[in-house]
Amino acid sequence: MHLPAGFFVKNNVRFFVISSYIPRLHASRSHTKIIARMKIVAFLLIFILHYVSCSNILYVATIASPSLQRWNRALAMGLRDKGHNITMLSHDSEKGPTPKNFTLILLEGIYDILEAKFESNEIREETATKTIKALFKHVGFCCEYDFNTTGFHTLNNYPKKYKFDLIIFDASYGRCFYPLIQRFNNPPAVAVTPYRLPPILSNAFGNHLHTSYTPYYNTEFSTKMSFTERLQNFFYTYVEVMYRKNSFSPKENKIVKDQFGDDVPALRDFERNISLLLANVDFVMDFPMALPPNIIPVGGLHLSPAKALPKDLQKIFDEAKNGVIFFSLGAYLRSDKLTDFQRNNLIETFKQLPQTILWKYEADNLPGLPKNVIIRKSFPQNDILGE
Ligand SMILES: *[C@@H]1O[C@H](CO)[C@@H](O)[C@H](O)[C@H]1NC(C)=O
Ligand SMILES: *[C@@H]1O[C@H](CO)[C@@H](O)[C@H](O)[C@H]1NC(C)=O
Ligand SMILES: *[C@@H]1O[C@H](CO)[C@@H](O)[C@H](O)[C@H]1NC(C)=O
Ligand SMILES: *[C@@H]1O[C@H](CO)[C@@H](O)[C@H](O)[C@H]1NC(C)=O
Repeated sequence: MHLPAGFFVKNNVRFFVISSYIPRLHASRSHTKIIARMKIVAFLLIFILHYVSCSNILYVATIASPSLQRWNRALAMGLRDKGHNITMLSHDSEKGPTPKNFTLILLEGIYDILEAKFESNEIREETATKTIKALFKHVGFCCEYDFNTTGFHTLNNYPKKYKFDLIIFDASYGRCFYPLIQRFNNPPAVAVTPYRLPPILSNAFGNHLHTSYTPYYNTEFSTKMSFTERLQNFFYTYVEVMYRKNSFSPKENKIVKDQFGDDVPALRDFERNISLLLANVDFVMDFPMALPPNIIPVGGLHLSPAKALPKDLQKIFDEAKNGVIFFSLGAYLRSDKLTDFQRNNLIETFKQLPQTILWKYEADNLPGLPKNVIIRKSFPQNDILGE
């Protein structure tokens, strides 16, 4: 993984020190002098690498979604592998033993509540505008909930002078943790999003929203839209931007003031001070879009090389003459909670396909399952896609 050079803001000064040696090095004609200077440069480099390797990083990944958290965790682990000390605030507990130089502060308990909410179909089968409202309601709820967790209080009770060298925020939707920047004495901050690139973030980081050819993600439009589709696309995109600005922001600021006190600056002001956004978009997988230099596409950084498939799956792949289709709704939406209408449509469609279908389906039985469809509660997705 390549991190942009500006990433270690505080260390830039030291990089400048090296580069000032290099022109003089070229000017010198004597070999011994060059070697002597190279030794100095090498020494400085080693010193700097050592210095850089000790950054103490706080990673605030408060989006409550196991699949998005996988992306955040991969980035955190990449940084840890480079020698940094990571403290991560997250809703997802570690499955195995906790790795070295990685401390997880768990915001406990939210999934139990969200599961009950999703049972009641809150975010499904809605129009784009209703989804926007539901989404922000969800984000506001998560903020309030998180401020009540012991995990949050553990972090907030760190010594007043405790020093983080950098704070990374998953900025996908909520901003209510931005006051931690002030709480930890204003270290540099970087925003990331595993959620592709929501228009509100793109806009907040200075991008123009090209609604004539960038389809809003909650629609079925493509880059080629008719006039009415472009109008609708403009409408949805700006409803999200305006809804956040005019309706959600005041509520969000109030939640934050209740927690951090009335003197806390507006969230917009924190956001303006964050100059870098790493977004999970890739020009191969996403629609074309113009990006300013401070939004860096790092799509797919969570992917690891595929491992060999388990024997039974390999057998399915070998026997599938017409290939295999993998179908999964991800970690959040569950196939077994689809309506009968949706499920039957899928079954009817799968039945007509010549391929073998692997369907991530979260229950044991599915009546009327066609012969070419195999359901399982979980599949090794990365390895299947790598096959
Ligand atoms: C953990 O951090 C220390 C000090 O920063 C470093 O010396 C050590 O190599 C790191 N360990 C791992 C496993 O990265
Ligand atoms: C690494 O992070 C943990 C948890 O925040 C902290 O207790 C520890 O002091 C940090 N280590 C270093 C070397 O900064
Ligand atoms: C958080 O705690 C406060 C005070 O105990 C309570 O009034 C509020 O309902 C709680 N909020 C959530 C979302 O749990
Ligand atoms: C934003 O940065 C400026 C300049 O460094 C600083 O004066 C201001 O307090 C920062 N604002 C917030 C909300 O952190």
